[in-house]
Amino acid sequence: MAGTIAAQPTIMKASGKDLLHDLDLTGDELVYLLDLARAVKQAPGEYASALAGKSIALLFEKPSLRTKLTFELAIRQLGGSSVFVEGPIGVREPLQDVARNLDRWVNGIVARVFSQATVEALAYWSSVPVINALTDLYHPCQALADVETIAERFGGLEKRKLAFVGDGNNVAHSLMLTSLRLGMDFSIGCPEGYNPNPDIVAQAEGLAAVSGATLAITHDPSAAVAGAHAVYTDVWASMGQEAEAHQRKRAFRDYQVNQALFAEARPDAIFMHCLPARRGEEVTDEVMEHARSAIFDQAENRLHAQKALLMMMLS
Ligand code: CP
Ligand code: NVA
Repeated sequence: MAGTIAAQPTIMKASGKDLLHDLDLTGDELVYLLDLARAVKQAPGEYASALAGKSIALLFEKPSLRTKLTFELAIRQLGGSSVFVEGPIGVREPLQDVARNLDRWVNGIVARVFSQATVEALAYWSSVPVINALTDLYHPCQALADVETIAERFGGLEKRKLAFVGDGNNVAHSLMLTSLRLGMDFSIGCPEGYNPNPDIVAQAEGLAAVSGATLAITHDPSAAVAGAHAVYTDVWASMGQEAEAHQRKRAFRDYQVNQALFAEARPDAIFMHCLPARRGEEVTDEVMEHARSAIFDQAENRLHAQKALLMMMLS
């Protein structure tokens, strides 16, 4: 009816204040978030004022294309506003002062930092929600968009298998926790010495025991991708590991996702990469450009998944 203001849909509020790592969302909240991301993707206009009057600070110690832009756009499209700061946190002035300044101006903080300890400290020193936009240990926002992408492609998640080939890094950790929790089988094929963090593996084993999913850690990439619905890789040297790039290139030489390895997964398997990619290293051009490459769907879903997350944390 002309002249009426559309009611905002009611959003379930996340029970925790922050999203510092994947398990800060409960299993139910995770499932709800994926449904909400789907709804906001289908009808973005219905959520156009969900963050009206809210301001969010984006603090980035590391470069970004996808995370920075999708958070800025998500906040704007939900009716909120953002301010962006790039550079090291806690150098010009102590982190606890930065956090308590932000506290007085903004309703939430999105932080991409080197150390997990930095997001933990930001959350400790501020009263507003802090969202991890990538640390050395986790990339939870990426994992949310990725499971959304797999669900879209395969019509569900349970018993779908996600195979990660490469470094047991931040992206691998978040994917492992998030997928096992949702009843997906998860395997990682990584060189010796580049296994995922043992404490996070122990958590993942606990989640698998509850969901009935399987977790496999192997040094054989073929074994990792066998029967996989999704084959995922990431750079061999993450941001901050540039000095190790040469040594890592040698260690990961047999872990490239190329046509031959991709063909060992299911015939309908999709290829996934969080991006940015180093074509010719962890993945070939052919696989990046393959008809079953889902890389740009993943990038798109960052926007929708983060909108859902922001609404649950901040509205
Ligand atoms: N995948 C991802 O987080 O990309 P950016 O580093 O560009 O943000
Ligand atoms: N593992 C990569 C992910 C980039 C989105 C890094 O931390 O650099």
